[in-house]
Amino acid sequence: MELYIDTANLSHIRECASYGFISGVTTNPSLLAKEDPKKDVKDIIKEIYATVGGHLSVEVNSLKTDEMLKEAEDILSWFPEATIKIPMLPSGLGAVSELAKRGIPTNVTLVFSPTQAIAANNAGATYVSVFMGRLDDIGMNSSDVLDDICEIWNVNEYDSSIIAASIRHPMHLLDAARSGAHISTVPYNVLMQSLKHPLTDSGVAAFVADYEKMKAAKAGK
Ligand code: E4P
Repeated sequence: MELYIDTANLSHIRECASYGFISGVTTNPSLLAKEDPKKDVKDIIKEIYATVGGHLSVEVNSLKTDEMLKEAEDILSWFPEATIKIPMLPSGLGAVSELAKRGIPTNVTLVFSPTQAIAANNAGATYVSVFMGRLDDIGMNSSDVLDDICEIWNVNEYDSSIIAASIRHPMHLLDAARSGAHISTVPYNVLMQSLKHPLTDSGVAAFVADYEKMKAAKAGK
């Protein structure tokens, strides 16, 4: 399972990219709104792409098919490798199918059910983003929903990739990997949390202490 970072924060993206374990970035209007309001969205996006390259999903803000398509053209003029993120609406599916005809990758976002996921795939989506955290928030079992979707993908041999999104904690990551999601897009804090283990920390501390002891002994201290 590939890992993407779900943020528009450049320093977080830069840090995780330097560790070499993420292969893409997803953004959305709410994540962009958290960044410097004086900065132009276009500049933030171009800077992110220049920093990490790889997959970068950029979301449209319009709700009508033709306006989504205009926005997509605009985003593609910033960088032609963009993946256009489009909400799971009938009008969004119209935009997805048109962009698919033009060979432009799309990421259908705000998917919460298997039937939505099937429609997104059939419209020609490249990626289908299933929101785990928000399903749990309304008392659903996100892991069961993702299991169903991944099974449907296997049985039907769909080509599009499932992205587990709205990840709130490392258990979501684990559930996504077990279900067979192709990608998880994860906020910075959860990515960092998923790298940590208390036994790693105590193990490193013990190795460092023993190494220092050995060095001191050699120096005759
Ligand atoms: C997906 O691409 C979205 O940006 C994201 O995962 C939304 O997650 P949230 O529910 O934490 O806002």
